[in-house]
Amino acid sequence: MAIILLFFIITTTTVSAAPTTDSFKPPDNYLIDCGSPSKTTLPDRRTFISDSASSPYLQYNGREIMLSDQSDNNLPLPIYKTARVFNAEATYKFLVSKPGWHWVRLYFNPIENKEFNLKESKFNVIAADNLVLLHDYSPTGPEMKEYLTNVTTRNFNLGFSGEKDAPAFVNGIEVVSAPDMLITDGVDGLFPVGKKVDGMVKNSFQKMYRVNVGGSSIGSGSDTLGRIWDSDQKYLKPQSAAKNVSIAPNIVTYLEGGSPLIAPPNVYASAMEMGSSNTIAANFNVTWQFELDKSYPYLVRLHFCDIVSKSMNELYFNVYVGGKMAISALDLSTITNGLSVAYYKDVFVEPAMVSSPFLVQVGPLNEPMGTKNAILNGVEIMRVNNSVNSLDGLVGADGRSASGPSRGTVAAVGFAMMFGAFAGLGAMAVKWQKRPQDWQKTNSISSWLLPLHAGDASFMSSSKTSMKKSAFYSSTMGLGRYLSFAELQEATKNWDAKSVIGVGGFGNVYLGVLDDGTKVAVKRGNPQSEQGIHEFQTELQMLSKLRHRHLVSLIGYCDENSEMILVYEYMEHGPMRDHLYGKGLPVISWKQRLEICIGAARGLHYLHTGAATAIIHRDVKSTNILLDENFIAKMADFGLSKDVGMGEAHVSTAVKGSFGYLDPEYFRKQQLTDKSDVYSFGVVLLEVLCARPAIDPALPREQVNLADWAMQCKRKGLLDKIVDPNLVGKINPESMNKFAEAAEKCLSEYGVDRPTMGDVLWNLEYALQLQDQGRTDETGYGSEFGSGSGSGSGSALANGAPLVPAVDNRPLTTAAQANQNPAEVQVIEEHSGTGMFANLNSR
Ligand SMILES: *[C@@H]1O[C@H](CO)[C@@H](O)[C@H](O)[C@H]1NC(C)=O
Ligand SMILES: *[C@@H]1O[C@H](CO)[C@@H](O)[C@H](O)[C@H]1NC(C)=O
Ligand SMILES: *[C@@H]1O[C@H](CO)[C@@H](O)[C@H](O)[C@H]1NC(C)=O
Repeated sequence: MAIILLFFIITTTTVSAAPTTDSFKPPDNYLIDCGSPSKTTLPDRRTFISDSASSPYLQYNGREIMLSDQSDNNLPLPIYKTARVFNAEATYKFLVSKPGWHWVRLYFNPIENKEFNLKESKFNVIAADNLVLLHDYSPTGPEMKEYLTNVTTRNFNLGFSGEKDAPAFVNGIEVVSAPDMLITDGVDGLFPVGKKVDGMVKNSFQKMYRVNVGGSSIGSGSDTLGRIWDSDQKYLKPQSAAKNVSIAPNIVTYLEGGSPLIAPPNVYASAMEMGSSNTIAANFNVTWQFELDKSYPYLVRLHFCDIVSKSMNELYFNVYVGGKMAISALDLSTITNGLSVAYYKDVFVEPAMVSSPFLVQVGPLNEPMGTKNAILNGVEIMRVNNSVNSLDGLVGADGRSASGPSRGTVAAVGFAMMFGAFAGLGAMAVKWQKRPQDWQKTNSISSWLLPLHAGDASFMSSSKTSMKKSAFYSSTMGLGRYLSFAELQEATKNWDAKSVIGVGGFGNVYLGVLDDGTKVAVKRGNPQSEQGIHEFQTELQMLSKLRHRHLVSLIGYCDENSEMILVYEYMEHGPMRDHLYGKGLPVISWKQRLEICIGAARGLHYLHTGAATAIIHRDVKSTNILLDENFIAKMADFGLSKDVGMGEAHVSTAVKGSFGYLDPEYFRKQQLTDKSDVYSFGVVLLEVLCARPAIDPALPREQVNLADWAMQCKRKGLLDKIVDPNLVGKINPESMNKFAEAAEKCLSEYGVDRPTMGDVLWNLEYALQLQDQGRTDETGYGSEFGSGSGSGSGSALANGAPLVPAVDNRPLTTAAQANQNPAEVQVIEEHSGTGMFANLNSR
């Protein structure tokens, strides 16, 4: 594992240990100690100047009142010792040298005095003449209010509305430039998942909570932007659920484009993890509780940095905000490509989603296996101004009032109603019931192991004779652990013919059991096969670069005595296809199917985007999606995979793949792109929906090719007629529509029109939500299902009447002709009973 890690860090990450944006020199930096006759220096070494009569900042025509109490030595900051009191309107005016984000920090302490009871004062503070910061405000103790606002004018005013008998007052003021990068305009909404919320740069924010999770509080002197971070102790409930972890702050690195200005290294260097982490039984959330006023939207910023894992891809967890799923299966390794790398995520929370108490939670995926842990390094909760541009109250600076709930609330409520009483968005994690024991006997291992299709010559080293295996293997490429031949001999009962679970041109595949009881799939190459070496190396090169929960992983290898043996994790439940049709296995539910598709999509998404160079799988099909003992889907068989170089959109290559799944554009142009995988995945989605092979020659001509047939039906609104009969009445129609829509987009004629795997993933998750939310009881969806299509059209279909003349533009000969070397063409007939997969499956 250590080797793999090293490999990743050296070659694929863009982290910078010493970012140049470490320090930020604010163009505007106004620090005022109000009511003080002289300047004051704070413990963080910043100096606040006096606002005496000669100061250019204050405009005020009332009686000058300054208060001072030098006796109170318990005050957190010396600026609380003096105050300026206004019994008429007063304005502080600042010249802005550079428009953009500015911190506004106001310090209040109602100093006791003979003339006024400042604790009972009630006043307003308006910024930039239109933003309400405080309304009818009565300060109680020494307190600081912090705001972040985008100043767009040359002058920035802070207005205090004092009156004769209820004066306003203030002890200190900061108006300080903040870096532009602090706020991004578009962020994710909390609900529904995937909703985007734009316009953050037009909003103003008030800090409600800023918490350094798992560590102590951080003073303004230790923050890159003078922020103060609270310790999380008082918010963590119960405290016993979590334990803190920390590393040295100098180990924390930032992604390219990231910066310590977002949060300093000391925030990321500490975290809370689950109290009894990494035990199988642990299944609970770590929870932090906050109090928020429900009449505003909030921006919640979550900070993460994997300082707990020993190696990459160990940590996956869910993040909930306000009791709703905010990030499902957060996979920090894939995002940051390394450990101890800072990452943050913003979530916009509409007022209707604000609960009391407001919870931020992290918890493990609801999967039976694997280590269970979840972390959080920091959280910031910022109130967002409402529709009348106020951060305090429903009345705007212009007297406009936000009638009832703000516009944002109405929209959110409307949406919530549309979705019905749908609370649990959290059901995205894979959840499976226990299956009958005989399942593992009836399933089969198939194509993923073999044959290892011939890799392209272009991918290989130019001279095959010079490719000494020993040299290849000894390179530090993360090949898993080395297994001795004797060990493997024993694991497979001396290569017992009864242990063979697959046979191919490359050699045999055996089910083996290692010393420690781990079941493995052992692929033993035939040393005589020169081609085999190439295949072996393609698969090795690919797998050595890839580690992901949704990719079948390599456990080890053996190259003793010119053997070529690869050892993989054993996938107990075999190919997904076997669970859809043809094997008589128990029917899997729509939800299970969605979860499997989501897993496979995650794996493909990782291939396309997760590694340094995009990798195209090239042979996406239902037999290459394998299911482990918990029905977690993993992509397998990288024998055909191709790297796409940095910055390249495609690779020109001989057409390979499986008939029925091949991208027509790839066929025509001989150019492979990641969208070819998306096409094939679209076919898989249809297989899942209709429970039939991609090619079924036994059917009437127009129905043979699933992709063509299903798309014809979809266009005619008759898709529900070809849906797996086992699902009829059990799919929420909205979920099915979303799913079919995703499949249709994947099957677009041109690659550019097809979605990315990331988009597909999103759509599938959405379809899963729709299924979950519709399920209120066990009566199913019978009444709604198929509404809109008459029985007449249904029977027409049943008769097999062709709707459109069948066109199959992809005869085998086309592929052969397109290639100089017909032997290179690897079009595999899915349907053939004598096909190699069929052979493999029936041992
Ligand atoms: C501030 O707001 C203006 C107007 O909405 C916008 O054009 C500008 O990009 C914003 N500035 C920053 C730094 O976001
Ligand atoms: C974690 O919290 C979420 C949201 O509050 C909830 O739906 C989920 O069931 C919780 N998980 C556990 C294991 O308690
Ligand atoms: C905050 O105020 C700005 C300026 O009036 C407005 O454009 C924005 O929509 C407000 N934000 C919300 C969430 O209503």
